[in-house]
Amino acid sequence: MHDTLLLFGATGDLAQRYLFPSLLRLQGDGLLPEDFRVRALALSPHDTDKFRAILRERFAHLSHYTPTDEQIEQFLARVDYRSVDMRTPESVAEAVRDLVDRPCVSYLSIPPGLYISTCEGLALGGAFKAPNRLMLEKPIGHDLGSAREINATIGGLIDEDRIFRIDHYLGKAAVQNLLALRFGNTLLEAVWNRNYIDSVNILVSETEGVDGRNAYYARSGALRDMVQSHILQLLCLVAMEPPASLGADRIRDEKVKVLRAMRPFSATEAERHSVRGRYIAGLIDGAPVQAYAPPDDSDVETFVGVTAHIDNWRWAGVPFHLVTGKRMAERSTVVTVTLKPVTHWLFERPDGAHAAPNRLTFRLQPQEDIELGLMSSLAGPEWGTLELQPLELELSSETGRNRRIAYERLFLDALHGSHALFVRNDEVEAAWAWIDSVVAGWKSGDVPLEYYPAGTWGPREAAGYLPAQFDAVGRPA
Ligand code: BG6
Repeated sequence: MHDTLLLFGATGDLAQRYLFPSLLRLQGDGLLPEDFRVRALALSPHDTDKFRAILRERFAHLSHYTPTDEQIEQFLARVDYRSVDMRTPESVAEAVRDLVDRPCVSYLSIPPGLYISTCEGLALGGAFKAPNRLMLEKPIGHDLGSAREINATIGGLIDEDRIFRIDHYLGKAAVQNLLALRFGNTLLEAVWNRNYIDSVNILVSETEGVDGRNAYYARSGALRDMVQSHILQLLCLVAMEPPASLGADRIRDEKVKVLRAMRPFSATEAERHSVRGRYIAGLIDGAPVQAYAPPDDSDVETFVGVTAHIDNWRWAGVPFHLVTGKRMAERSTVVTVTLKPVTHWLFERPDGAHAAPNRLTFRLQPQEDIELGLMSSLAGPEWGTLELQPLELELSSETGRNRRIAYERLFLDALHGSHALFVRNDEVEAAWAWIDSVVAGWKSGDVPLEYYPAGTWGPREAAGYLPAQFDAVGRPA
């Protein structure tokens, strides 16, 4: 197992909030190699003592885990810090050279504009010689052209099978459950196609705002930040053909096929099948929050709703409604697969309503669970009538308390060299190709930015994109 981590972007938000706490917890659970060590690298002119003090303070306020002082000190003893200028390959090479004879993994949690110079420095310093590895955070580039350039340049410095591109959604346990449920059950596979499935909704709503990430977000927006990565990955797992095995490349081959079958957007498609929004001032949990005001009057969106189509035999004609937004009414990540109604309805419902369609709901956040919505007479009808009522079947009742957070799982997999939960170069590029078509559709079509108050379900125009159990301006129905 690789035992040395070179962590670039060590003072950044992601490293401080998720990466170091994940490593600390893995250590606490005895899952890191005995000689594990981390070299933390960033631009700030700290020294190791100062950086350890920053981490110590951070570890004192973790929300999901309470380490002992001994665990914290043991972990800090494994960490040292080097200041580095990532724009200069020589500076990067110099900062890692003394460690590269150990089996090491370089982790880039830095803006993608610095990927190439940092990787050139790592190659120069010897950090890419086999069996050393590289982990890359999203986004890989800003569009297809820049992603290709990054992939091609880095691919010339280190083999693809030693690169681990992260999409942290793939580390979430519910995502793995989706695969287990799809491919471990005849029942689902039999109906998993256009003949039985009416629509698929993927919703990722956040209550957080853009806060503190203005420079990145103003160039990115919700489409590039969330849809290109997390939402398209979820879509792939719902839509892909069964892989021949669980081998990383077999799974990734199937995901690429889905992305390549996505129908590109045209201007007309963009006008008819997408909504862009931006939050204005409103209330989150009763507290006032400000409007998003990007620098330079950029027209970047904080909300996007698009209806995607996958042009293949399995999915022809099935709409995939993809929705994400910041500062929405609640934090919720839900994949809803709605089946077609039964062809001939025989029963009555007490309220006189028709059948609710069968629905499979995978909830990733705030808690992880899976529900199957069926119609049933279990509610106890009067004698002589057969009245059906909707019944929600809980398919998993885990509290999630003992679950690993996504980054813990992904660190373990990368340290062990398992690629299945990481994204391949062609997947990234195929995802960008579709995103670029949406951006081009927005540019040439008439898709104005719609405004929504913080704390709501997005602009009014977005109603049709939300899963049926949500309503566009209020709260879940
Ligand atoms: C990141 C995005 O990749 O995912 C953020 O850049 C977003 O904008 C975050 O807030 C959401 O992750 P999670 O796990 O909190 O849903």
